[in-house]
Amino acid sequence: MIFWRVKPLDAILATAEKKGLHRSLGAWQLTLLGVGAIIGTGIFVLTAEAAQKAGPGMMLSFVIAGFVCAVAALCYAELSSMVPVSGSAYTYSYAVLGELVAWVVGWALILEYAVAASAVAVGWSGYFVGLLHNSLGIDLPLALANGPYAGGIVNLPAMLVSLFVTGLLVIGTKESATFTAVLVAVKIAALAVFIALALPVLNSAHFQPFAPLGGTGVVAAAASIFFAYVGFDAVSTAAEETRNPQRNVPIGLIGSLGICTVFYLLVSAGAIGAIGAQPVVDPATGAGLAPGSAELAARCQTLAGAGTQPLVCSREALAQVLRQIGWGGVGNLIGLAAFLALPSVVLMMLFGQTRIFFVMARDGLLPEALSRVHPRFKTPHIVTLVTGAGVTLAAAFFPVGKLADVSNSGTLFAFMVVAIAVMILRVKDAGRFRPFKTPGVWLVGPLAVLGCLVLFLFLPPEAQLVFPVWGAIGLVFYFLYGYRKSHVARGVVDPTGGEDIIQEIRPLAECCEED
Ligand code: ALA
Repeated sequence: MIFWRVKPLDAILATAEKKGLHRSLGAWQLTLLGVGAIIGTGIFVLTAEAAQKAGPGMMLSFVIAGFVCAVAALCYAELSSMVPVSGSAYTYSYAVLGELVAWVVGWALILEYAVAASAVAVGWSGYFVGLLHNSLGIDLPLALANGPYAGGIVNLPAMLVSLFVTGLLVIGTKESATFTAVLVAVKIAALAVFIALALPVLNSAHFQPFAPLGGTGVVAAAASIFFAYVGFDAVSTAAEETRNPQRNVPIGLIGSLGICTVFYLLVSAGAIGAIGAQPVVDPATGAGLAPGSAELAARCQTLAGAGTQPLVCSREALAQVLRQIGWGGVGNLIGLAAFLALPSVVLMMLFGQTRIFFVMARDGLLPEALSRVHPRFKTPHIVTLVTGAGVTLAAAFFPVGKLADVSNSGTLFAFMVVAIAVMILRVKDAGRFRPFKTPGVWLVGPLAVLGCLVLFLFLPPEAQLVFPVWGAIGLVFYFLYGYRKSHVARGVVDPTGGEDIIQEIRPLAECCEED
């Protein structure tokens, strides 16, 4: 029986009440938190990769990925309003499907957060290198600005930003609500300016052919661009710190997702309409070249040599579009906005990671030493350093699209389990009060499961493979450690350790007393 050791919902809620974080966030802050976590490398960089897979059809890809996220968010919202505690999908699974499934979900979330942090760091690097070139005329050597996938040795800027963010988290830097709000405003302003300049020069001929690589390309692009929406679950992760979570968490989830979807559609329409978005194909076979591959990098270099710069070759897609339509200075400003704002997405992802580790350690499934608190900085420095080292290494050697795909594989799994959990809980615990009920759960739930499954199946094979391998390593670890040490198994309902950690790793500074 795999659904063992279910942690009773009442115990989770009681622990959260006793040990939990100060509830200070309101609906507005949550929506900001969500938009802050969502907008990042996905729209600023991966637009180019999506175009390489789908051509102009990537607009449809944004809709498909947004739809899957919306149905998953509706399921998230029901569980997060019922179980307004830290730990997101991991905690929900513990309450509904038991420890083993919860462990696998927590393990998958590591993939989501840590690998996403690497992906965003690599995305940032592209804008940083472009900004140096276009604003200051400085060219970083190719060998130090790219991993081996693009003919380089190591992506030094991506490593440096990962180390920088790790350092900030170790010394206990918290983004204040004001700082978060400023960065969100910078991102929104950058996208709004892009839309305002790109849409008026839209050329409808650029939308033809709409799906040059067929429906498969469109769905494959949706599976990758799904990354652009990842992060909305940061809202439910903050449920334990939210005032009136029953009302505010669903508003934060759906609000942030809705705002981002509108922006993504307008931005992609602007990019396609302004300069076109046809994929670069193998001249011999006519097949689309894989994003992040050495073949595509070589072909792009040849095209650049001939004076052509297709959208799909760009590492700083939005800035490049503006440069090509005669707004070079504004393009550089968009680059500056990405340069300033993307590190905070790396920070949120790394932070989310430490939070998941923390909750798992609170449950006894991970060694408590991992969550040891630094005597001076009062941060879980060990887990932060270990995670930061992994993130830095991945950022050094892998392309942004491949990292995003791997992150997506873990995220899709976690979302799928949440949707299943909502439906099981409707049957198992039908009488429990549900402040937010997923509308049409018997349609929305299966759609979320199916959507996640389809997107997973359309990820590139390497990304599909990483997940089971990572999961298998996790299971070995669980049976060697967590299975014996689990607090639920040992009857430790109210662990004494960790209260100080919870207090110290709050994502937002003392803020937001009232809406
Ligand atoms: N959704 C986030 C991004 O696009 C992770 O960077």
